[in-house]
Amino acid sequence: MPVSGAKPEMPAARPQDPVERLIAILSTDIHAVDQLIHERLSSPVSMIPNVATYLIDAGGKRIRPLITLAAANLFGPVNDAARRLAAAVEFIHTATLLHDDVVDGSGLRRGKAAANAVWGNSASVLVGDFLFSRAFALMVEAGDMATLDVLSRTSGVIAEGEVMQLAAVNDVDVPLERYLQIIEAKTAALFSAAARVGAMAAGQSGAQADALAGFGRALGMAFQLIDDALDYGGATSSLGKNIGDDFREGKLTLPVVLAREQANTQEEAFWRRVMGGGVQQAGDFEQALALFQLHGAMARTLATAREYADRARDSLQHAPPGPVRSALADLAEFVLERAH
Ligand code: IPE
Ligand code: IPE
Ligand code: MG
Ligand code: MG
Repeated sequence: MPVSGAKPEMPAARPQDPVERLIAILSTDIHAVDQLIHERLSSPVSMIPNVATYLIDAGGKRIRPLITLAAANLFGPVNDAARRLAAAVEFIHTATLLHDDVVDGSGLRRGKAAANAVWGNSASVLVGDFLFSRAFALMVEAGDMATLDVLSRTSGVIAEGEVMQLAAVNDVDVPLERYLQIIEAKTAALFSAAARVGAMAAGQSGAQADALAGFGRALGMAFQLIDDALDYGGATSSLGKNIGDDFREGKLTLPVVLAREQANTQEEAFWRRVMGGGVQQAGDFEQALALFQLHGAMARTLATAREYADRARDSLQHAPPGPVRSALADLAEFVLERAH
């Protein structure tokens, strides 16, 4: 976990961000989860801990396991099952990153050369499989068929999302609904499950677990929308991955979908060439940015993310009040701020 031991007192005028607040409240549990993650990376096959530790120790926001622990903590002290599920969630996430960077041909992850760029695609795929297996072992140890059901289904949904997206590459006509379906599956589903299993580990089912799942889903949608916006404008140094990957790969994301809705004939020909698998030329990326500007496509993408963030916050209104609920609610705003 990106957690330092003693944190200096923050001056009252600069309130901590919600991730820091959650880390402060949940520090014991987070350290336990971090320890569990590191323990479970071990294998006598040395390439496995080498590759896995490289990625895990590169940092990462650990936002999903934090959500699991926070969801559990809303309903009482965090128990062992919640900690194991939080570790499982981060293992699933890390496995999907290893696979995703192969699929996307990405060279940078968490500010470092991506594992596939260091060890090659085969190692990334196989170590990703190993991490999935570790996730499943942890879920079994958590000892509840219902949470195992949620997370195992979610692993399948993430894979469906990635495959749906693969099938949509270079499809300039991908409809808005399809784009939303893809990001819900590949990203929001795990945020949702992370929150739901936290609540379940704390003995909740029914309305409270559903509300937490709704919170996670909406937060995950906002998160991926912002991530997709950042692919056209984030600074590589702060994002820890290269920008422009989606454009180069012909991956249609919301800014393009929205800009295309307003495109004239000439612009339509541009989008068909650059996103439809034609040859991209110098200046095309800048031209795409200019078209976003012309049609307010980036602003509308950010407004859509805000709608989801508001929905996430609203989902918490019947959750037990207190510092954890407020930090979770503020996470929605925090996710949006990544874009600034
Ligand atoms: C990256 O997720 C994958 C997406 C869903 C966009 P994060 O941005 O949470 O990745 P880390 O774990 O912090 O590196
Ligand atoms: C993120 O996919 C979702 C998963 C890893 C399943 P992306 O391809 O959009 O995310 P980044 O940009 O590589 O983090
Ligand atoms: Mg990717
Ligand atoms: Mg991808």
